[in-house]
Amino acid sequence: MWPRLPGPPPRRRPPDAHVEISPRSSDSSLKIGEVHEANRKAVGRTILHFDAVESTNETAKELLESDVEEGLVVWADRQAAGRGRHGRAWASPLGGLYASFILRPREAHAWVLGLLFGMPVVKALRHFGVFAGLKYPNDAMYQDRKIAGILSEGVYRHDVYHVVVGIGVNTNVDLEKLPAEVQPKATTLKREVNLFVANEEFLDYLLNQVDDLYSRYRNTRIEFLVKDYRGQCTTIGKRVSVTMGKEKLTGKAYDIGTNGALVIIDDQGAKHDFFEGTLEILK
Ligand code: BTN
Repeated sequence: MWPRLPGPPPRRRPPDAHVEISPRSSDSSLKIGEVHEANRKAVGRTILHFDAVESTNETAKELLESDVEEGLVVWADRQAAGRGRHGRAWASPLGGLYASFILRPREAHAWVLGLLFGMPVVKALRHFGVFAGLKYPNDAMYQDRKIAGILSEGVYRHDVYHVVVGIGVNTNVDLEKLPAEVQPKATTLKREVNLFVANEEFLDYLLNQVDDLYSRYRNTRIEFLVKDYRGQCTTIGKRVSVTMGKEKLTGKAYDIGTNGALVIIDDQGAKHDFFEGTLEILK
């Protein structure tokens, strides 16, 4: 039996996270395994596997207090308070894949890394039979339904800059287990593929792809990787409507900047850099 690790303080469950956590694990994180894969270059050499946590991103950030190796992976079977972008909840029932990576990039690249990590996710989904594409910035979509999401966060600990990249994939999840309002816009591997794929197998393949990408990130100019991302981003070329704070604009998604911004040309021909906000694809 693995020792019980100190877990994050209990937090209120977000209203739309339909997760049932047993009393045994509701107030602490239970580590159920630790895997070492020496063949990987940087990411996924050590994987800490938890039964349930509040959020793998939060557990990863707590681990930054100790001297953890770069590339450490926190993987949980379920999350009681999974977090998405824009402060939204990420419903994390049993069956889905929830993992976070600790990285120490050479520059403050949390946003671009979050963007680039969409590529290995799409690669893994395609490998297992779902021909997904990337909606800007990093939603893995299949037939206009979201199947995976990424939350990347830049964190300073003891003056060292870290990026925690969290990935949630709806793998072996029944659509009905997701919140009612999410269901019409979401899909799952189980729903799309008539073959059972164990989370271990999916994670193993995903980690190999993430490890390759991160090694390229460390050894290549970022422009080349952004160019690859552009090729997988299905938002490019589409008419979009975005809101950035109080500003709203409509135009054509035209390019990805080397800073990771989506470049939009509005109807008057002016270029705008879009990062965060809401983005709607217009038909
Ligand atoms: C989004 O599309 O809004 C991002 C979703 C990110 C969810 C993952 S699941 C693993 C990690 N832990 C979290 O709390 N969030 C990310």
